[in-house]
Amino acid sequence: MTQLEGKVAFVTGASRGIGAAVGRALSGNGVRLGLASRSGDDLGLADALGLPCDVRRLDQVEAAVAKTVERFGRLDICVANAGVGSYHTLVATPVEHIEEMIDVNLKGTIYAIRACVPHLIESGEGDVVTLASEAGRRGLPGEAVYCASKFGQVGLTRALDHELREHGIRCSNVCPGGVATDFALADGYGRPPEVLAGMMSAEDVADVVLFVLTRPRGYRILETALRPVTEASWG
Ligand SMILES: NC(=O)c1ccc[n+]([C@@H]2O[C@H](COP(=O)([O-])OP(=O)(O)OC[C@H]3O[C@@H](n4cnc5c(N)ncnc54)[C@H](OP(=O)(O)O)[C@@H]3O)[C@@H](O)[C@H]2O)c1
Repeated sequence: MTQLEGKVAFVTGASRGIGAAVGRALSGNGVRLGLASRSGDDLGLADALGLPCDVRRLDQVEAAVAKTVERFGRLDICVANAGVGSYHTLVATPVEHIEEMIDVNLKGTIYAIRACVPHLIESGEGDVVTLASEAGRRGLPGEAVYCASKFGQVGLTRALDHELREHGIRCSNVCPGGVATDFALADGYGRPPEVLAGMMSAEDVADVVLFVLTRPRGYRILETALRPVTEASWG
């Protein structure tokens, strides 16, 4: 029996990459799962509900959270992970990529956490984990809009710590550097495939999320920064 046994989590962007690795890690620790993504993949996990959901749509996010609570009876953990990245200079970033990064990364995170919070409060304690990025901790060249969306996530989660601590809800930003997932490969988005070598794995990041969630409830981790050894820290 693990300390997460019987808890219920809602994870966005759970069909692939980091979200899927987090889903698998939580499932392995006895957590029941609402797994949200546009494809609605349940990853074939026991006690997991696949939820087709576009995080840009508040109504779809609220419906997915409601289905999770209806199925499992409670909610303890929100992992706001869905995200897209398009790395260009500001002027070269296509307008539709600007809109998608702000809508998915920032508004989607706000919507997911907003939909979860009343249920976390009802459970008496809980955890919010936001998959931000190193790009949410410092400005990086060639990714201004992505950075803006990630700084927004970090600011949101830090501010929510003030709002939610009194309810026993811990809010944590997990800020990875490069992770070798589809994120880096999607057509027109992400980084060129040759930079994938030496990046961290989705499972590395899921380990950190698990670490954050399994700390004794007397303290909270506000932010975790992790980077592959192949990547500079830029001060
Ligand atoms: N990979 C990295 O180097 C890296 C580094 C730092 C931080 N991050 C952050 O980590 C998070 C996960 O990234 P990843 O590398 O795992 O990416 P990924 O492998 O591309 O997976 C992205 C996930 O988000 C979902 N998604 C995308 N748009 C969505 C939408 N509109 N509504 C609902 N779900 C949507 C995708 O599922 P569907 O296509 O089925 O919707 C997929 O499950 C992102 O927030 C990213 O910014 C990544």
